[in-house]
Amino acid sequence: MISEEDKERVRQATDIVALVGETVVLRQRGSEFWGCCPFHHEKSPSFHVNPTNGLWKCFGCGAGGDVFAYVMKRENLDFPDSIRYLADRAGIELAEERAAGPRGPKRNRLVEALVEAERFFSLQLMRGKGEGAAAARSYLAGRGFGSAVCGRWDLGFAPGNGALVGHLSQKGFGRDEILAADLAVDRGGVLRDRFYDRAMFPIHDEQGRCIGFGGRVIGDGKPKYLNTRETSTFHKSKNLFAFDRAKESIAAKDEAIVVEGYTDVISLHEAGFTNVVATLGTALTEDHVKLLTRFSSTIICMFDGDAAGQRAAEHAIQYLDRTKARLLCVVLPDDLDPAEFVAARGATALTDQLGGAVPLVDFVLDKRLSSVDLSSPGQRVAALGDMASLLAPLKHSVLLDSYATQVADRLGVTVDETKRRIRDSPVATQADEVRESSAEGDESDLREPSGPTAAEVLGTLSPDDRSQLRAERELLTLMAATPDVARSDAERIAALSWVDDRDRAIAWAMLATPDGTSPTDVVRAATEACELAPRILSTGRLVVRDELSDADKMTFAIDNVELYSCRRRVRAIKARLEGHVEKEEMDDLFRQATDLQRRAKALAAKISAMA
Ligand code: UTP
Ligand code: MN
Repeated sequence: MISEEDKERVRQATDIVALVGETVVLRQRGSEFWGCCPFHHEKSPSFHVNPTNGLWKCFGCGAGGDVFAYVMKRENLDFPDSIRYLADRAGIELAEERAAGPRGPKRNRLVEALVEAERFFSLQLMRGKGEGAAAARSYLAGRGFGSAVCGRWDLGFAPGNGALVGHLSQKGFGRDEILAADLAVDRGGVLRDRFYDRAMFPIHDEQGRCIGFGGRVIGDGKPKYLNTRETSTFHKSKNLFAFDRAKESIAAKDEAIVVEGYTDVISLHEAGFTNVVATLGTALTEDHVKLLTRFSSTIICMFDGDAAGQRAAEHAIQYLDRTKARLLCVVLPDDLDPAEFVAARGATALTDQLGGAVPLVDFVLDKRLSSVDLSSPGQRVAALGDMASLLAPLKHSVLLDSYATQVADRLGVTVDETKRRIRDSPVATQADEVRESSAEGDESDLREPSGPTAAEVLGTLSPDDRSQLRAERELLTLMAATPDVARSDAERIAALSWVDDRDRAIAWAMLATPDGTSPTDVVRAATEACELAPRILSTGRLVVRDELSDADKMTFAIDNVELYSCRRRVRAIKARLEGHVEKEEMDDLFRQATDLQRRAKALAAKISAMA
């Protein structure tokens, strides 16, 4: 709740003529200002603003109101957000923000410091005499960013060596402010420039003010980009690169294009695609989607054609059901990223690619199924499980039928079975895909993915799921030790329903190796499927029961996982039965639950006999 008092403070602080003047040419007549209405098309001005009472009105379309009504209409915001928007613009801290965080330096001081830093970096790039600045200029020019482009995008150069800290101090910014803006790091009481010898890409908020930076290494080096950390002004999960410049074009075209890189955005805008934005080194979040849908009903994700792009597309599936927008997807051919593509093939070719954008689900399913041999029943079963967990975030969607039909058609299974598998699949728990890499040796750039960490995910698991997770890890460890034995149980292992998606990926990668592959190569295959495989494979205890043969050990480990997964499915069905279900489905669910319980009982008996 925003208090009446805060609201009035914001109103007082807002100059309505200046606000409207940001996008409308106004002329003064007497005590009022007149212009052409921004909310409908007109040639002669019938829109006026009265600074004395703070109201505006259009005699053409009838719209009118106060500053908040104006911002609600122009920015597509609801009422409370219109207050927040104007508070932010005026540098007013609302009571809700004060309550939210510990009191640090004032937010608008941070923004002032960042804007000053942006100016400083830009001046260094344009006029800097040193070798570093010259190298940055020629590096950027070599990538097609000559001085005009650098000027338009406020690109800069960070010389390091305390140059920025010195400059900001001289401009009157205090230590706390510089640190809170993440422009410096504290090294034993001495402030050091956070960005050093990098080409600087300033990131702006919706109103065009600098709130952070991406600093690119000049040439090769690690990390490729060093980004401002989360601060009170900079939120990777909310802000988008170039949103301030793109939003009008996004609204006019009713279409937003999201790419992965800062350089992609610049190249595309320069090539005439002005409705392009990028995420800030993290995956697309629900807040990003919300922000974009304020202005357009279509979002085209243009992912890089690599594995990370594929994962990003899969990650975005969960938003299909939480937004009214159409989510489309384009993956450029030949592993080109958007900047490379437009440079090599031109704008018309890119327009063609955009015209061929496909619904996200189609893309994700096609891509995964393209590597499945549909003539092999084993692979089909496995693929069904795979599809089911991909689509699990949509299990409650009204579109479930249509997605399930697509999968069923492709795999030659029934729609009902497909739906059942989707409903039974746990919603994937993988953390957000993050390109951003942490700076080696620079603890100030600890990686901050916008999604949950693995520990948080584990923390949210029920005790039963955690037991299953342990059983999964044991099974995986055993599989890695005796891959030939595992392969002979492939069908059973492939049919398991896993708690952790990564475990499933690792299992399948190991099963896919040919007979006779050495354990080292099996682990390598697993690592290709999931980077964390070595760690995961080392967390499982080996079930030491020397009296058992390898085959029996494997059976025992599989039984264990299956037992937990049967129980988990039963729980899922029970939860489902608590909601509204049709009679027919209810019978079906009861039947499934009974079967599963019978199976669980048999497994439990077998396990305790063996133990
Ligand atoms: P890319 O590696 O595709 O970089 O990462 P790019 O934007 O194409 O850059 P150039 O063209 O090689 O210079 C895409 C985005 O991922 C984030 C950045 O936001 C980058 O723009 N990223 C990448 C990081 O945050 N840190 C990194 O180390 C790498
Ligand atoms: Mn790229």
